[in-house]
Amino acid sequence: VPLSEARVPLTDEGFVRGDGCFEVVRCYAGRPFALDEHLARMARSAAALQLPLDGVAEAVANLSDGFEGYVRVMVTRGPPPAVYAMQEHHHQDGTPMRLRSLAAPWLAPLGSTVLAGAKTLSYANAVAARRLAQGEGYDDALLLDRDGVVLEGPTNSVLWVESDRVVAPALRLGVLDSISRRVVGRLTPVTEVEATLDRLMAADEVFVTSTAHEVTGVATVDDRTWPAPGPVTARLAQGFRDHVTTAR
Ligand SMILES: Cc1ncc(COP(=O)(O)O)c(C=O)c1O
Repeated sequence: VPLSEARVPLTDEGFVRGDGCFEVVRCYAGRPFALDEHLARMARSAAALQLPLDGVAEAVANLSDGFEGYVRVMVTRGPPPAVYAMQEHHHQDGTPMRLRSLAAPWLAPLGSTVLAGAKTLSYANAVAARRLAQGEGYDDALLLDRDGVVLEGPTNSVLWVESDRVVAPALRLGVLDSISRRVVGRLTPVTEVEATLDRLMAADEVFVTSTAHEVTGVATVDDRTWPAPGPVTARLAQGFRDHVTTAR
């Protein structure tokens, strides 16, 4: 149905309590990119929430065929559990980002809570952090744990370059197992680290990855600046582009 005619029952617990999970799949040239990995991650999120996955693959396939943009698919609690999917258009222009570091004590290490690492509908903490950062003139937040260990952005992964070595926060910290970060890992070795903000501040380059951002340079974290994108970031951004246009 046209988006304007789509309806969600007001009583759906996905709406009332954020009880559900979702994925956003990028469609390039009319085909979904890394669909199997998105469906596998959705299956892990749904399992953590004890939600069924029936109809998810069909919904994504229907909406991505011939489409250029993003397909968002959500499974909500209902009851009964329901699948919603919609097409979205976004434009990320690759402009280097300015990030503000903020504590994110709601992000928990893998295994410490049943939903750690799951992509649930409950993004209120994440978007509140983004709003705080934007209120201070930054583009987005850079989330840290209680001890100042670097985690991720509200909707993106953070990586950095140390003397040509690309590093990223360890998945055991509870950051999302990002599919675009995995793509970067196919272009260059990525070393997982547990590192506080001072180590990132000493990096040669910082960049973010996400389904929407692909590989985007970071020009500022708090009061530290870098010329962005740096050479490694630029090479990875091009590699990412090449990858999505050849491998699907
Ligand atoms: C919290 C979080 N981290 C990282 C990412 C990047 O993940 P992906 O590369 O799979 O889009 C996202 C994407 O929405 C996210 O919400």
